[in-house]
Amino acid sequence: MCGIVGYIGNQDTKDVLLDGLQKLEYRGYDSAGIAVLNEAGVSLTKVKGRIAALRESVDHSVHATMGIGHTRWATHGVPSENNAHPHQSASGRFTLVHNGVIENYLELKEEYLHDVEFHSETDTEVIVQLIEKLHADYGDTAQAFREAMRLLKGSYAIGLLDNEDQDTLYVSKNKSPLLVGLGEDFNVVASDAMATLKVTDQYLEIHDREMVIVKRNSVELQKLDGTMVTREPYRAEIDPNDMEKGTYPHFMLKEIDEQPIVMRKIIQEYQDEDNELKLDPAIRQAVKAADRIYIIAAGTSYHAGLVGKSLIEKSARIPVEVHIASEFSYDMPLLSENPLFIFISQSGETADSRAVLVKIKELGFPALTITNVPGSTLSREADYTLNLYAGPEIAVASTKAYTAQIAVLAILAVDTARAKGLELDFDPMQELAIAANAMEILTDQKEALEQLASDYLATTRNAFFIGRSADYNVCVEGALKLKEISYIQAEGFAGGELKHGTIALIEDGTPVIALATQENVNYSIRGNVQEVVARGANAMVISMRGLEQDQDAFVIPHVHELLTPLVSVVPLQLLAYYAALHRDCDVDKPRNLAKSVTVE
Ligand code: F6R
Repeated sequence: MCGIVGYIGNQDTKDVLLDGLQKLEYRGYDSAGIAVLNEAGVSLTKVKGRIAALRESVDHSVHATMGIGHTRWATHGVPSENNAHPHQSASGRFTLVHNGVIENYLELKEEYLHDVEFHSETDTEVIVQLIEKLHADYGDTAQAFREAMRLLKGSYAIGLLDNEDQDTLYVSKNKSPLLVGLGEDFNVVASDAMATLKVTDQYLEIHDREMVIVKRNSVELQKLDGTMVTREPYRAEIDPNDMEKGTYPHFMLKEIDEQPIVMRKIIQEYQDEDNELKLDPAIRQAVKAADRIYIIAAGTSYHAGLVGKSLIEKSARIPVEVHIASEFSYDMPLLSENPLFIFISQSGETADSRAVLVKIKELGFPALTITNVPGSTLSREADYTLNLYAGPEIAVASTKAYTAQIAVLAILAVDTARAKGLELDFDPMQELAIAANAMEILTDQKEALEQLASDYLATTRNAFFIGRSADYNVCVEGALKLKEISYIQAEGFAGGELKHGTIALIEDGTPVIALATQENVNYSIRGNVQEVVARGANAMVISMRGLEQDQDAFVIPHVHELLTPLVSVVPLQLLAYYAALHRDCDVDKPRNLAKSVTVE
């Protein structure tokens, strides 16, 4: 949700800002802007649209060695040039970029800014106008900035330029990600280290409600009460090649293909030299001690949680509830006596999940985060973290993170079962290795899946996915993939549920994709397929080797029944991908979405 970059140094800043924003486009891409500051003042460029359009609009003849940039995912106000960041104060002295949502912007407007004329519909403009007002009182930018930050309620990551000071960039954050990158004779600011990895791999974390005074050769970190803070920088361990598409037309296709590699990486990371499972003993203890596990997540990660529930209950015999983060925050169920909360989040920044984490920490309950970004907010604020080792996921539609989440949950489930002394006929590493090979076989069958996408999904208005037990959990993910990137209205249903209402929507030619990978329900799901076919549906059955029938459209290799979701999701990801291509959709950056959802 919005990306921020800032630079202060001795080089021209435009390329660092534009390249950084390009890398942050996954966070939002409806409008963008940069402001650069030199002796002539601020030069501001804003566009409705993407970074490519911004690059074209920027005046490349302006030379400046400091600046800030922003790529937006609209919250307050439509995507437009006017609402795009950076925003400026009434006099034009202050220029600011912001990621997050200011909850008390109306109160601030009323109390401090009733005489100010606003030029945008954003909550952000309130911040920059407020800084100017406070500057009139304090006569000092750092003090005005600090006071303004103290007045803000909500989430923010902010970068500020002061026209009259070409040596300082002011930044602060609360609940939205922001890092300072350290260089020689320059420093940068970014929502994600990925944005500025080209110029530095040394980063300094900013904690919530801290501000940083960033100069060319120094960085001063302080709390909002003015107390100085010292913190060691860390090295960002991201391989820059992981952030490039290489020869792939889209990140999504690359990331689908990377899934077998990610499975093998997970096996390697969670296994010691004696082939024993390698997990932090404190995590083992925390899971074992729980009388109930509450999985909290959103979207695709929530779907991985549904699979995780069945893995943990079947292997470790601990009851598990899976909750949509945004619902749990406001409608908390009765909790057990010794709960453990597991947060599943690719980005580790999802605001809905974080809101729950904050609440349950207040209640004193333990929390484990399963994430692809170990230094992320959810990782830092939980007691324990399990890393997904999936590498950066750039496409907005999550693919490899979903399968990585399931693999890590499987390892956690078996590890807990073993710690509890339970007998299992399931060697997770061996079965994950088999699943990785199966995934590879599937990613080699793109032509067949492209043909199926063209036959079933190229022109349809809607589609249904049906499955039972483990297959049902994958159906909801398959439907989400299809709708988010191809804009086909798609729903995943439990096979037996369709006839309780939704079957009314089936008409001649409606695509129904059925998963049949579960032996104990194979007979029933096939019955459900007959029911929809009898009403005109165009049914596509995807079954597993050993359970297949002649008329099935696609057969996946045989894997352990607990791990079928890892494999059955791959054809659904590829069907969604090819359906989106057939419909001329922007696969990696679907409309209205952003990768990291940092607003509640
Ligand atoms: C869908 C998708 C989203 C995310 C959701 C949670 O493809 O990516 O549904 O899964 O926004 O994000 P994380 O996992 O970062 O918490």
